[in-house]
Amino acid sequence: MRQSIIAGNWKMNMTPSEAEKFIDEFLALDLDRKGEVVICPPFVDLYPLSKKLVDNPIKLGAQNVHTEDAGAFTGEVSVPMLKDLGVQYVIIGHSERREIFKESNDFINKKLLKLLSSNLVPILCLGESLEERQAGREFDLVKSQLLACLKDVDSDQVSNIVIAYEPIWAIGTGKSASSDDAETMCKFIRTEVEKLYPGQGQKIRILYGGSVKPATINELMAKENVDGALVGGASLKVEDFKELVSYEVNHD
Ligand code: 13P
Repeated sequence: MRQSIIAGNWKMNMTPSEAEKFIDEFLALDLDRKGEVVICPPFVDLYPLSKKLVDNPIKLGAQNVHTEDAGAFTGEVSVPMLKDLGVQYVIIGHSERREIFKESNDFINKKLLKLLSSNLVPILCLGESLEERQAGREFDLVKSQLLACLKDVDSDQVSNIVIAYEPIWAIGTGKSASSDDAETMCKFIRTEVEKLYPGQGQKIRILYGGSVKPATINELMAKENVDGALVGGASLKVEDFKELVSYEVNHD
């Protein structure tokens, strides 16, 4: 059985004071947490949140990392810095970083290898644009991202990666992929991982991200190959995030 993950990607939202208020309110709620819960705030919120989450099962993730441990990389944050704060997950390959900050598959692959060798869990994002989907190229595109990002990853490390399928056209648009489309692509990714690393396909966790809301989470989580969600906008609202982490388990 793969443990589910509901991860909140706060993107560039929430000041440290707002983050503290959010977590105080969230922890005061009666949570019916089903699997792992991860909050990925901006870097400046990690320290105050790490203080609030001592001895709490809610885990912290970062939204980025550099490949080097230290040095002249103005504006960057390293693995040792994140580990010192108790961070366990790091989002890499998000489409916003690929598009706005021109991050290549090659650089994302280097970050992935760095995280694996440091025992941090990469949340590796993959996903096609609307243009690519309309041209029927979504499977080819996701496969090429997957192959490039997994370069030089050993078989015994693959199951430590979490993959997030995030179609770009569904991010922040309110237009989520249908649960069937999410399932189809997550299954495709799992099959490709199995082809590359026999025996590992059923172990790797694959999330869906893109306009996930409380209204859609149960249907999504009922899908066989969807192991969780990477949530943007709805993770910024205490009540919505509570409903997301308390999704209903469907055993059919
Ligand atoms: P939204 O949930 O706001 O569409 O964002 C999804 C996302 O990009 C999570 O990484």
